[in-house]
Amino acid sequence: MSYFMGLDLGTSAIKCILVDADGHVIGSHSVEYPLQQPFPGWAEQHPEDWWNATVEGIRALLAKTNTAGEAISGIGFSGQMHGSVFLDEAQQVIRPALLWCDQRTAEQCAYIESTVGEAELGRLTGNRALTGFTAPKVIWLRQHEPEHYARVRHLLLPKDYVRLRLTGAFGMDVADASGTLLLDVAERSWSQTVAERLDIPLAWLPPLFESGDIAGHLLPEAASLTGLAAGTPIVAGGGDQACGAVGVGVVRQGIASVALGTSGVVFVHDDTYQVDEAYRLHSFCHGVPGKWHRMGVMLAAGGSFQWWRNHFAHEELERAQQEGKDVYEILTSEAATAPLGSEGLLFLPYLSGERTPHPDPKARGAFIGLNLRHGKAHLTRAVLEGITFGLRDSMQLVRESGIEVTELRVSGGGARSPFWRQMIADIFGIPVVTVNSTDGPAYGAAIMAASGVLGIDITTLCDKWIRVTDRVEPNQENQQQYDTYYQIYRGLYGTLQHTFHQLSELAGH
Ligand code: XUL
Repeated sequence: MSYFMGLDLGTSAIKCILVDADGHVIGSHSVEYPLQQPFPGWAEQHPEDWWNATVEGIRALLAKTNTAGEAISGIGFSGQMHGSVFLDEAQQVIRPALLWCDQRTAEQCAYIESTVGEAELGRLTGNRALTGFTAPKVIWLRQHEPEHYARVRHLLLPKDYVRLRLTGAFGMDVADASGTLLLDVAERSWSQTVAERLDIPLAWLPPLFESGDIAGHLLPEAASLTGLAAGTPIVAGGGDQACGAVGVGVVRQGIASVALGTSGVVFVHDDTYQVDEAYRLHSFCHGVPGKWHRMGVMLAAGGSFQWWRNHFAHEELERAQQEGKDVYEILTSEAATAPLGSEGLLFLPYLSGERTPHPDPKARGAFIGLNLRHGKAHLTRAVLEGITFGLRDSMQLVRESGIEVTELRVSGGGARSPFWRQMIADIFGIPVVTVNSTDGPAYGAAIMAASGVLGIDITTLCDKWIRVTDRVEPNQENQQQYDTYYQIYRGLYGTLQHTFHQLSELAGH
């Protein structure tokens, strides 16, 4: 039997999975690594930590599943997007990588939009300059750490650095490259014009691939460290959103996904290159060769719920431990005891600032409408409703751009709750389904590996391996009530924006 390995280099851990030739997951293993936040709004990681975790993860997975390295026919990589890995002439890491959730580059984004021109940047890259993206991080390095900048010879994204260590080959897939702001997304090639206007050498950027292309073969030294066989092919893979979408079969027009991790992402497949008129949605290359996608990214979706659990769910945490239950399950069942709309209470989920539809690092969270009747269940429900309204903001942009979505595939931690799935169906007014594959981006990466090695296209493999397991229809009465709340929710950011900025100024971050 031959197997494929899918690796997902996430923000908190690398997840390694083993998939057989029929698409069944045989085993998985995750290894965590730390996140450094030296100043408020900053987020960095040491690429060496990713490397060590990858080696440990692969070894442990092979041991756990009792699999010989020679049985692995191919490996695919998914990774957290946008992070900047700066390498010198000798391929040594110059400083810790700035991550997708790092918010320090607001000034650099303004610089990029004024240097290239906002409309011209959109025309050339399909996107606006956003703090999470890679090019603003390069400009930040030039302005704030010129001694480091002077040494840069290569710029990579997180997973591409780890693949370089495994194979010795530089490369990046067009899906992940879309989030650098240096890619001509329509042409699927580096934008010479943007690189020149920003004075970023094109020579720093690696060769580009489609996700299923073989981008290198395992080096003998990496083979002895990991237990894999030297020469094992490794495909280019994709950014975690493209891999996650492939992993749940979002590979056709009309099907969209909502990925409920720390961030919350609404993702739609596009057969042709399309942009939203004001570039409010990201327009990126898909992991499916020759296809594109648009997405809206909310920065604190599961992250808001996790914040709520960490600070306000001590009793529930204790109960969960005593009863051997999941604390989120306890919290969602408490939320279900409060009525729809939480009796006039709204929650704004901008706890990490926001990206879509309000690209604003200084946006803040809020409960609006509190009164003495409200108890914890109301607040918990308001958190879930607020996150889902925030995601609907992105779906609204999708609808306004004329895309008809007939099915929403929900994945990530939040997808486990039937209560939350029904709420999504009601707030979006779209049927919500779950699928048999629950390993997210790592599964998409394994599909890409199988596609590259077996020469079968990604869409065909998705059709063979992925099945719908559950479907909930929107409840029309709930949908109408939620619509009324949503219209109020929609106006709140505009009303409070100035206050958020004043508070952020006062707090100094
Ligand atoms: C996508 C994005 C996130 C990160 C998180 O634009 O920023 O999905 O990749 O892993």
